[in-house]
Amino acid sequence: MKFIVKLLVIGLFLLVRLASSAQTKINPDDIKDKMQWFADAKLGIFIHAGIYSVDGIDESWSFHNNKISYTDYMKQLKGFTLKKYDPSAWADLIQESGARYAVITTKHHDGVAMYDTKMDDLSIIKATPAKRDMIKPFFEELRKRDIKCGAYFSLLDWSHPDYPGFLNDSSRYKIENDYERWNRFRQFFQGQIKEISTQLNPDLFWFDGDWEHSAEQWESEKVRNLILTNNPKAIINGRLQGYGDYATPEQNFPVSRPKFNWWELCMTTNDNWGFHHDENWKTPYEIITIFVDAVSNGGNLLLDMGPKEDGTIPEEQIHVLKELGAWNKRNGEAIFNTIAGIPQGHFYGPTTLSKDSTTLYLFLHGQSSGTFMLKGLVNKIEEITVVGNGTNLSHKVVGKISWSPVPGLVYIDVPVNVLDKYVTVLKLKLDKPIKLYRGHGGFD
Ligand code: GLC
Repeated sequence: MKFIVKLLVIGLFLLVRLASSAQTKINPDDIKDKMQWFADAKLGIFIHAGIYSVDGIDESWSFHNNKISYTDYMKQLKGFTLKKYDPSAWADLIQESGARYAVITTKHHDGVAMYDTKMDDLSIIKATPAKRDMIKPFFEELRKRDIKCGAYFSLLDWSHPDYPGFLNDSSRYKIENDYERWNRFRQFFQGQIKEISTQLNPDLFWFDGDWEHSAEQWESEKVRNLILTNNPKAIINGRLQGYGDYATPEQNFPVSRPKFNWWELCMTTNDNWGFHHDENWKTPYEIITIFVDAVSNGGNLLLDMGPKEDGTIPEEQIHVLKELGAWNKRNGEAIFNTIAGIPQGHFYGPTTLSKDSTTLYLFLHGQSSGTFMLKGLVNKIEEITVVGNGTNLSHKVVGKISWSPVPGLVYIDVPVNVLDKYVTVLKLKLDKPIKLYRGHGGFD
C-alpha cells in the first residue's frame, strides 16, 4: 500500500513537472528575433558546480531526501576550495566542444550562491575557502570567445530560513499561514535575480525548481519583466511556471518530434549533474547520436559536466567534450545554423536541412556502409558528398514511373573507406528547395 502511494506521489510529481515545462503564456511570434541565436546554437554545455562535489554526492537532493543530514551536507562548505580553478581552461574546453553557449549554476537548491551575492552570507565567497566568485570570471572568458552565457538559478531554496520547503518529509511553514514570511523570501530571491541580472547580465536565465509553487506565488510574470527590463534580449527557459521562452525536457529523449518552436534536451554525461562517484559514463558515440537526434528534431542539447571541488574537470568529461568537438569540426556544417530535418519515414536515420532547404543532410549511425535508401524526394539531386572529407558519392533513382506523381526511390552507395569514426554525414545538394511526396503510394 505504502509503495502504491509512493508511486502515485512520484507520478503526480512528474506530471506536474512535465506540465510545467509544457505550458507557456508567451507568444512565439513576440520572441522570434531574440531566439534566433539559440535556434542556431544547437549545443550548450551545462555546468553543475557546487559544494556537493566535495563529497561527490547528489546535488542538494542528498539532504532533502535524507541521505545525509543537513549539518553534514553543509560541512562540505569547508572543503570547497576551487584551488585549481581556471575559468579560461573551462571556456577553452567548451569552445573546443563546439558549443555556442554554456549554462552554469549560480545557485542550486541548497541555496549556496556561487556568485557574489549581497543578499545573505551563504555564498562560496563568504562561506568557503574558495573565497571567490566562480561566475564572473567564467562569463568574461566565455564572452572573449563569443560563447553565450547562461545562469542556472534555483527558485526554490531549501536553506533559506524563510523558504517553506526543507526536507522531503518536513517543511518550515505553509504560505497560507504566514504571507509575511513568504514575502520576505520573495524579496530575497527576486533580489538575487536582480543581482545576477545587473552584475552578470546573462544572455540566458535557466530557472529550476519552479514546481514547488505556482506562477502567482513566485510572481513569475514580475520575475520575467524584471529580467527583460535590464536586458530585453535575455532568453528565459521553460521553468518559470509558464513564463519561459522555450521547453526544457530533462534526461528524456523524444521519439516523435516535439511540437515546440524551441526546445533543449538537458542531459548528464554519467547519471549525475554534479561531480559524483558514478562511473556510468555515456560514450562519445552515444552522446553524438543523442545530439544529432535532438538537432534533427529541431532541438538543442545542453550537455552537463560536473567539476570537482578544486575546479578541475573529470578526465572522462574532458574526453567526451573533445571527441564531440572533433566530430563537430568534421561535420558541424550539417549541424550549426541548420533547421530540423525532414519528417520521419523518408530516411531511416536523423536528417537536417540548410536554412534555404536546398541541402539535405543524412546522418548514418554506427560506421554503417552499404546502400542507403531515401523515399519520397521529388527534387533532383545535383550532387552527393560526404561531409568532412568531400568524397563524391553516386546514386541511382529506382522505380520512377513516368505517369505517376510518386517519386522513385533514391539509393546511395556509401563505401567503407569514407566513414566517420562515429556518425557519417551525407550532403545532398538539391536542384531547388526540398519538396517531398508524403502520400500513400499506389493507394492515393
Ligand atoms: C533537476 C534537479 C536538479 C538539476 C536539474 C537540471 O530539476 O532538481 O538537481 O540541477 O534538474 O536539469
